[in-house]
Amino acid sequence: MPQTVPTELKDLALYVHWPFCLAKCPYCDFNAHPHTRMDGDLFAPALRRELAAEASRVGRRRLTSIFFGGGTPSLMRPAAIGGLIDDAARFFDIAPNIEITLEVNPTRLALEKLTDFRLAGVNRVSIGVQSLDDAALRVLGRGHSAAEAIIVIRTARRLFPSVSFDLIYTRPGQDRRKWSHELRAALAIGPDHISLYQLTIEPQTVFEALHRRGRITLPEDDVATALYLDTEALCAASGLRPYEVSNYARPGHESRHNTAYWRYADYAGIGPGAHGRLDLHGQVHATRRHRAPEIWFDQVRRIGNGIGQDDILATDQTGPEALLMGLRMHDGIDLGQFRARTGMGIEAFVDPSILSECIAEGYLTLADNHLRPTREGLLRLNALLDRLLDRD
Ligand SMILES: C[S@@+](CC[C@H](N)C(=O)[O-])C[C@H]1O[C@@H](n2cnc3c(N)ncnc32)[C@H](O)[C@@H]1O
Ligand code: SF4
Repeated sequence: MPQTVPTELKDLALYVHWPFCLAKCPYCDFNAHPHTRMDGDLFAPALRRELAAEASRVGRRRLTSIFFGGGTPSLMRPAAIGGLIDDAARFFDIAPNIEITLEVNPTRLALEKLTDFRLAGVNRVSIGVQSLDDAALRVLGRGHSAAEAIIVIRTARRLFPSVSFDLIYTRPGQDRRKWSHELRAALAIGPDHISLYQLTIEPQTVFEALHRRGRITLPEDDVATALYLDTEALCAASGLRPYEVSNYARPGHESRHNTAYWRYADYAGIGPGAHGRLDLHGQVHATRRHRAPEIWFDQVRRIGNGIGQDDILATDQTGPEALLMGLRMHDGIDLGQFRARTGMGIEAFVDPSILSECIAEGYLTLADNHLRPTREGLLRLNALLDRLLDRD
């Protein structure tokens, strides 16, 4: 049965996908392609066209965030970013504290454009640093050094009200001593927010082929757990509160955009491969754009949007999705919001006896109408979710 959603859930987050990078990194399975594949100057106007189409589909709503992600959207011209922000401001009611994030690859090219990105309206940058160790950056196939990344972060801190950067850890050969040293150096730069991802071997990447042949090996699980706990302690000691599995922020600098995903709030996504979850006329739509840039582009040119799939979700789909997203956050799930969004209480999706067991075993807490993962729960989040949702 398609479900009904109360009309007060009208705030909207907007994701804009730029699917090109200078080169494809060997570990990455994002929808990202070498920038030589298509002409970026043709691509940006197609994004504006799709934004106009999406705005008329979605209707006038309060826009709380825009996130330019990729790929490498810092390859875009600042004027193209500014054009999309201006369009969004015409189509939607801009929340007074709107967060406008741009993912930035820390190269000299991006450094030269930072001031213009700020002038275009971007107020938060998320910089893909990945490592502060030059040897590791080479293994990760990155086209920048640690020193270049640090210059980009320092410059961004002068220009933008909120600066985040990403590092990848549990890399081949990494131990507690090496990671603590690297993380301390990262925290000393003073980010407002930091995303710390454990390296995952993704299907159909160069790293997967190397891993299969035994050319790269990841640290054992017990080492990965120790690195995770060290990470939490070091971040907390420098005033960065963990608020999601991989994200740490100074109070007030939590990513509003990503929090919309984790809270399972409404978001629209434009650009190749972008996903949306939207309440349209009381039904939750799951929308996905065509992934291949050429197919997306041709369809936008023909009919104004690149939508490949648009499904109306039933309650038995929204409930598990909201649970999967919500338990990533330390603050967990507000059970009142959960009911408002899915139309049903959590007990409709989770066997109450399993829920009680997970609470009794110390993986979850239930208090103040919130279901929260404990640290033990977060350390075993996938197994916990499998158990709650009765997945094999
Ligand atoms: C879409 S990328 C955007 C950042 C930007 N394109 C860059 O790399 O500079 C988002 C982040 O995902 C993380 N990431 C990508 N692939 C990963 C993997 N296989 N394991 C862990 N983290 C990964 C990286 O930290 C990356 O910065
Ligand atoms: S990690 Fe970033 S720069 Fe590298 S291929 Fe993926 S999206 Fe592009």
